[in-house]
Amino acid sequence: MDTGYLLEVLGLLGRWLHVIVAIAWIGSSFYFVWLDDSLEPVTDPAAKARGVYGQIWSVHGGGFYNAQKYPLGPPELPASLHWFYWESYSTFLSGFFLLCVLYYAQAPALLADPGLWKATPAQSIALSLAVLAGGWVVYDVLCRLLRKRSQLLFGVVYLAFVLAVAWGLLQVFPGRAAYLHVGAMMAATMSANVFFWIIPGQRKVVAALRAGLPPDPVHGQRGKQRSVHNNYITLPVLFCMISNHYAFTYGSKHAWVILALILVAAVAIRHFFNLRHKGRLAWQYPGGAIALLVVAFTIARPAGLQAGSTAPTLTQVRPVLEARCVPCHAEQPRLIPAPPLGVMLDTEAHIRANATRVVQQAGYAQAMPMGNVTGITEAERQLLRDWAAGGYR
Ligand code: HEC
Repeated sequence: MDTGYLLEVLGLLGRWLHVIVAIAWIGSSFYFVWLDDSLEPVTDPAAKARGVYGQIWSVHGGGFYNAQKYPLGPPELPASLHWFYWESYSTFLSGFFLLCVLYYAQAPALLADPGLWKATPAQSIALSLAVLAGGWVVYDVLCRLLRKRSQLLFGVVYLAFVLAVAWGLLQVFPGRAAYLHVGAMMAATMSANVFFWIIPGQRKVVAALRAGLPPDPVHGQRGKQRSVHNNYITLPVLFCMISNHYAFTYGSKHAWVILALILVAAVAIRHFFNLRHKGRLAWQYPGGAIALLVVAFTIARPAGLQAGSTAPTLTQVRPVLEARCVPCHAEQPRLIPAPPLGVMLDTEAHIRANATRVVQQAGYAQAMPMGNVTGITEAERQLLRDWAAGGYR
């Protein structure tokens, strides 16, 4: 089997798994944050005496549920206790697998842009790993320093850090890889929170309760702080992960500003839902988020035909595609085993069928040619944009 095909198959299987386990993780994480925020105070003195702090009744899938929260544990621990961690670990592991298949195995094309940083594959992979690990170390130090301070302050400092990393990555990696790494860094931090703090803390509490000792409340507080952080980081991460399909964001000249606006919008949307669970409706958050998204997409919008120029026709565009794209985008391409995503640009019919995508990927965004291995020039990109502005004649 050729490597190109093998990587496609592994990519598909890895992505499928990653989406499934991530849904399970985020689903349980959203559920528990919702549960915590929706708890109602208990009135029953017997329940209070048992250490119940809040409870809620709900109805779902043919039955009624009555969840109760014991912040410090019940008087007697039940024999079987359900833990939640494999959702998180398997999301990390499948995500890392995907990173290897999609980016590390194709580092020369996907993790390198000769116009930015002339790195060897080993160097760019090393930087990628350093971003994942370094992102966690910085987050963890910030958490320890600011645990007792306002979490809004924490949020502002951490966001500044994430945006600084994003800016740095955009100077060295292609935009697509830079956006993905910002997401992967935050996602790795979320899993590390579960692995290094939340679960070990819960294990200590359970061990204390089993030994008949009072548990140290600091474990609960720390676990709660980090699981709330995870909750707010989720939507920004999801944006970074799906951004790979939208070259007008990461491929824009203003990729950094666009990312910053969308990340803040994502946090605002999450905050709105968290307030709503507590029974408050603060529409300024979704309102603000929509405004930020409108600004982001306006900035990302490509410019029209340059003043004074006449729109080119396919006859002028075709030689550019022939030289810069067809080496990969043909029925039997020269540079890779098969036309990627089935996109072929070798005949007039194929070009017309893909016209808007061609201009989107190579004219407006700098996403194609991949790694610019075929050396497209800025004038040729402008030609593609003008072709679009003139209506793809
Ligand atoms: C070195 C090989 C290579 C060259 C050269 C190349 N591409 Fe691509 N192209 C790819 C790969 C690989 C993908 C699949 C990317 C992915 O999976 O997201 C792709 C995907 C695309 C897509 C589909 C993107 C999507 O997400 O829908 C378009 C459109 C495209 N290329 C246009 C072009 C144009 C236009 C050129 C020339 C200016 C070009 N490509 C040059 C390798 C190449």
